[in-house]
Amino acid sequence: LKVEALEKLREVQDPQTLNDLRVKYLGKKGELTEVLRGMGSLSAEERPVIGQVANTVRSAIEEIISAKQEAFQEQETLKRLQAEKVDVTLPGRRLPQGGIHPLNRVIQEIEDIFIGMGYHVAEGPEVETDHYNFEALNLPKNHPARDMQDSFYLTEELLMRTQTSPVQARTMLAMEGEVPVKIICPGKVFRRDDDDATHSFQFHQIEGLVIGPNIRMSDLKGTLQQFVKEMFGPSTGIRLRPSFFPFTEPSVEVDVSCFKCGGHGCRLCKQTGWLEILGAGMVHPKVLEMGGYDPEKYSGFAFGMGVERIAMLKYGIDDIRNFYFNDMGFVKQFRGV
Ligand code: PHE
Repeated sequence: LKVEALEKLREVQDPQTLNDLRVKYLGKKGELTEVLRGMGSLSAEERPVIGQVANTVRSAIEEIISAKQEAFQEQETLKRLQAEKVDVTLPGRRLPQGGIHPLNRVIQEIEDIFIGMGYHVAEGPEVETDHYNFEALNLPKNHPARDMQDSFYLTEELLMRTQTSPVQARTMLAMEGEVPVKIICPGKVFRRDDDDATHSFQFHQIEGLVIGPNIRMSDLKGTLQQFVKEMFGPSTGIRLRPSFFPFTEPSVEVDVSCFKCGGHGCRLCKQTGWLEILGAGMVHPKVLEMGGYDPEKYSGFAFGMGVERIAMLKYGIDDIRNFYFNDMGFVKQFRGV
């Protein structure tokens, strides 16, 4: 029994078999136990002799089993260490890199240009009062020009702002009559519109406002001229067309020379050579007054541009909805621009 057991135990290669053999030899119904149980039928002289032999066999078996167990444990630890080994010299894995959304990119670019001209960036709330969105901008209730900007009203007095111009009114009051005022205000605006390729119920505007002594139309023109040269290239020109806004007088719409065809006519400018990009004008005396500025002493100009429109022209995007679908294929194109 001993020889056979030791032989078998020595050959064992895995802990499971080792355990099986332990049960086979030493377990309650094991072979050695069997022998010991049979001792009752032995004579008094035989008993101690057999007992001793059985005990040596038992301890020999136990010894080899525990040695084996230890060896297996060691192997197991080694294997785990091997599997968990970290190669600190491996190069790092690249993390996916995000990018700035094209609209934010354009907003940042426009901000940079105006900051370079000494402007500050101002902000205002997206939920606005009827007062700031319309009344303080010379658009009293029932004024027909309110129809130009179909609105989302939340209550009778609150609405989603339809333009960034209310920030003009807020800034003037916050400045308490001090000059110069020189701000731009980027932000979201909302109008009740059915979305299509060129309309979106939500879009972005950037408003500009300058107030000081002796601010003239030529200052407005020069400022916008400088802006488009930096935005679209040094050979870009502008053209002013008379227009109407309740908060500016006189009012103009501003076109840039088509930077795609150089003014010769193409699909982008519909063969006209010009692209409309913003509305502007000299701040209406009533608006100055409501903002706490004496129109006899101070004057100012204001302008407002649609960010999506400028981004669409600049990057040749033909559907405004692209900005809001969050299609990664679309957005990723602007990573390195
Ligand atoms: N707020 C006007 C619009 O949304 C644009 C504008 C701003 C015009 C400032 C003149 C001066 O249409």
